[in-house]
Amino acid sequence: MSSLRFQLPNSLNLSFLIFAILWTYHEAARDTLKLGDTLNSSSSLVSAKGKFTMCFYVNDENSNSSYLAAWQTGSRNHAWIANRYTPVLYPSGVLTLDMNKTLKIMHKGGDPVVLFRASETNSIHSTSSVVATLLDSGNFIVQELNYDGTMRQVLWQSFDYPTDTLLPGMKVGVNHKNGHIWFLSAWSGEEQPAPGPFTLDWDPSGRELKIKRRAVVYWTSGIFRDGQFEFMKPYDELGTLRYKFSIVSNENEDYFTYTSASVNQSYGPQWVLNIFGRLLDLNGNVIAPADQCYGFTTDGGCQRRDYPSCRHIGDTFVETNGFFRSLTSNMTTKHDSNTSLTLSDCKAACWEDCDCLGFMTLFENQTGCEFWVGNWTFSSRDLFGYANPRIFVLSGLSRNDTNSADTTNEESDTNSWIWIGTSIAAALLLMVLCILCYLLRRRKSLLSGKCQQKIENELLDLVQSDKSLDAEGLPNDGKMGHNDLSAYTYASVLAATSNFSDENKLGEGGFGPVYRGKSWTGRDIAVKRLSRCSGQGTLEFKNELILISELQHTNLVQLLGFCIHGEERMLIYEYMPNKSLDFFLFDTTRRMLLDWNKRFSIIEGIAQGLLYLHKYSRVRVIHRDLKASNILLDENMIPRISDFGLARIFMHDEPEANTHRVVGTHGYMSPEYAMEGIFSTKSDVYSFGVLMLEIISGRKSSSFNDNDHVLNIVGYAWELWKQGLGLQLMDPTLCSSYIEDQLLRCFHVGLLCVEEKAVDRPTMSDVISMLTNEGMSPPAPTKPAFCTGRKVVGNGKDGNRSESVNDISDYEFEGR
Ligand SMILES: *[C@@H]1O[C@H](CO)[C@@H](O)[C@H](O)[C@H]1NC(C)=O
Ligand SMILES: *[C@@H]1O[C@H](CO)[C@@H](O)[C@H](O)[C@H]1NC(C)=O
Ligand SMILES: *[C@@H]1O[C@H](CO)[C@@H](O)[C@H](O)[C@H]1NC(C)=O
Ligand SMILES: *[C@@H]1O[C@H](CO)[C@@H](O)[C@H](O)[C@H]1NC(C)=O
Ligand SMILES: *[C@@H]1O[C@H](CO)[C@@H](O)[C@H](O)[C@H]1NC(C)=O
Ligand SMILES: *[C@@H]1O[C@H](CO)[C@@H](O)[C@H](O)[C@H]1NC(C)=O
Ligand SMILES: *[C@@H]1O[C@H](CO)[C@@H](O)[C@H](O)[C@H]1NC(C)=O
Ligand SMILES: *[C@@H]1O[C@H](CO)[C@@H](O)[C@H](O)[C@H]1NC(C)=O
Ligand SMILES: *[C@@H]1O[C@H](CO)[C@@H](O)[C@H](O)[C@H]1NC(C)=O
Repeated sequence: MSSLRFQLPNSLNLSFLIFAILWTYHEAARDTLKLGDTLNSSSSLVSAKGKFTMCFYVNDENSNSSYLAAWQTGSRNHAWIANRYTPVLYPSGVLTLDMNKTLKIMHKGGDPVVLFRASETNSIHSTSSVVATLLDSGNFIVQELNYDGTMRQVLWQSFDYPTDTLLPGMKVGVNHKNGHIWFLSAWSGEEQPAPGPFTLDWDPSGRELKIKRRAVVYWTSGIFRDGQFEFMKPYDELGTLRYKFSIVSNENEDYFTYTSASVNQSYGPQWVLNIFGRLLDLNGNVIAPADQCYGFTTDGGCQRRDYPSCRHIGDTFVETNGFFRSLTSNMTTKHDSNTSLTLSDCKAACWEDCDCLGFMTLFENQTGCEFWVGNWTFSSRDLFGYANPRIFVLSGLSRNDTNSADTTNEESDTNSWIWIGTSIAAALLLMVLCILCYLLRRRKSLLSGKCQQKIENELLDLVQSDKSLDAEGLPNDGKMGHNDLSAYTYASVLAATSNFSDENKLGEGGFGPVYRGKSWTGRDIAVKRLSRCSGQGTLEFKNELILISELQHTNLVQLLGFCIHGEERMLIYEYMPNKSLDFFLFDTTRRMLLDWNKRFSIIEGIAQGLLYLHKYSRVRVIHRDLKASNILLDENMIPRISDFGLARIFMHDEPEANTHRVVGTHGYMSPEYAMEGIFSTKSDVYSFGVLMLEIISGRKSSSFNDNDHVLNIVGYAWELWKQGLGLQLMDPTLCSSYIEDQLLRCFHVGLLCVEEKAVDRPTMSDVISMLTNEGMSPPAPTKPAFCTGRKVVGNGKDGNRSESVNDISDYEFEGR
């Protein structure tokens, strides 16, 4: 099987890879457009060392709007967008450097977007050539070359037109010679690159940085002294020096810029101004928390502003990472359908309105506002849920949840809340307390930085209670239960992964980046670096890990150990040489390596692993994020489920630094989970059904939107099944290896798994007996959920659904 080990450099883009594999001749990915060259939707530019990639991307799978973007390879942040004001119809966009030395994006249905046009003032030699090059710094430049190929002058550069991202070497300031101002402006929505209300700019007279919202100053950096600003430090929360700041001031220009001071970051340095005005880097370090500036104080660089008398220090808006609902039936909403309003405008308007308790955007494209007003009390229901649109409520409300969950039982009228028992109230209470704890801790860490002391104390307690923590990566003495879980020191993890070097990075999972490493014993390991904010105490985290490490099955990835360093937590797993299922399944070339027999045994393996998690393990685990990229493959292509139990560790909130990260993935989530946040083992069965359809078809669940009818894989499969065309779902590369009977059986069972009603779905043991017992004929499937695509998903507005006690109790790990 060693031939299956594709060790592909991350840095090359996928289309190029496929090309390289198919033709075996290596053609260098180009970083330069010469006069007359074009870049269309199926090609890309890659900088010389592969650090940056540029191509057209579609921001929303349901529309055909595309943007020409450059991003650091491996990161999800689009560091620069060429046409943020003018999305172009996909796939008609073509970037070209034409014979007149004009750099422009041509597209169907509109004037070209001109980025650079040569003029007299450029004084270009008639004989020299002009090229456009994407540099490893992320700068896209148009340069004039001398006869010998060296650069004569830079005619235009993307660094002069930043969007929401500041890369090292970019400037924020003003060019006195031509009056050009360099500033950042945040996106208007998470998927909308158009400029939103927040800007970051440099005030040359006060010599400080300012974050403004619609021209109102929210935050200032304070005075620059000894290499740092009063309210903006070059080091992170743990005191590591991250950046070097510099200020240049002369008759030509006046600006701020920075460079990286540390090599240990999982991403190269880049700062992003997010849609709420927070400036952060890709490692989650907050540079400037302008989103927390409510006008009360000048702490942390915030500016005082007027605020309504009904608001008090400590009031903030918090994002509900799941579903909040009203406990009283008297609910009102107010709408503002002005489509110039963005999420942060809704926040500001809600803040001003004393009746307003929460807000979200009104339209799918994150414009317009919906405000929740009146005498509402909210209850957190399921913090794992997927909220789309994002919902924010006043923090005081979650504080009062604890009372209201009990008291509203008497007040509430006919709705179903009456019979919800005290056990749920207690569970809610616990959850709310946890959130509170977490929020308080986080606020502390952001605004005052006192958090470190607390963590250190906590760690100290832990070390005293458990000697195994100072073992140098050695298995502990068994104190931690009947398992081989080891505590690794930070130094040993750093050594194993070469300081989390980019070369060792395997990918980015739902909970943080994963690195390959070699432990001191020579064993290959994978280190998952959990995103900062799991919100759990150290002891709680460790207890959780002990539970998880006791889950042992051939179809689960084995947890070997963990490492705690400051606020950072890392999990150490065995290393899987064949990456993950999606790496093979969704690649036009590699999928050929998965013939039907292999696919069937993968299906069986996943089913066995899930059955174990649901039924035979000591604690019941609901995975909640089962998908192709979470199925790893070992050297014998045996599937190993990964990330199980992690949802538990990340109980309280998703890290703010990366809001695209959600627990649960579109396309794999069952309707009751996506819309109501109810989950049970049957939600995993649903995800398993989707996964099975993907394995049969070799296509991603989300890849079905490009046809005329917007269908997901479930809808598409159902249509084929209804018409008796089951074999058409099959991945064409299977045509020489498939066993018709078995394939159709998988298809059939897959459809049963995605039934709309959870009760109609089989359990995992039913699934296994149906898949393996050829004599048995499964019941006929009915029309599954989500036939009409993704618009159904994410409508969490309805506050009047009931739920059953069973759904809640599944939430707890049941000891057995
Ligand atoms: C992009 O250009 C290549 C050749 O230059 C062409 O084969 C391909 O069809 C083009 N793709 C699109 C989407 O226009
Ligand atoms: C995307 O473009 C295709 C072909 O140009 C068209 O058929 C489809 O309707 C478009 N989809 C949307 C959502 O505009
Ligand atoms: C270059 O400019 C000339 C004159 O403005 C125009 O006629 C010609 O079409 C342009 N060529 C290209 C490729 O745009
Ligand atoms: C970063 O790596 C360097 C060596 O590459 C090391 O000296 C330094 O201690 C590391 N810093 C942290 C915070 O790990
Ligand atoms: C809701 O509150 C309004 C006053 O804001 C009141 O007029 C109405 O009767 C209430 N409705 C219910 C069902 O309590
Ligand atoms: C919509 O909102 C924008 C931004 O706040 C504002 O400038 C504009 O006047 C509003 N339009 C209407 C019709 O209210
Ligand atoms: C967002 O959606 C609304 C309603 O669908 C539409 O009126 C508006 O033009 C859209 N705005 C943008 C920027 O696409
Ligand atoms: C909220 O309740 C109080 C008394 O319970 C009432 O006076 C007030 O009008 C209510 N407000 C709204 C907006 O319903
Ligand atoms: C919320 O709780 C605070 C004390 O924690 C209390 O003073 C306040 O009255 C409560 N508000 C409501 C609406 O219950």
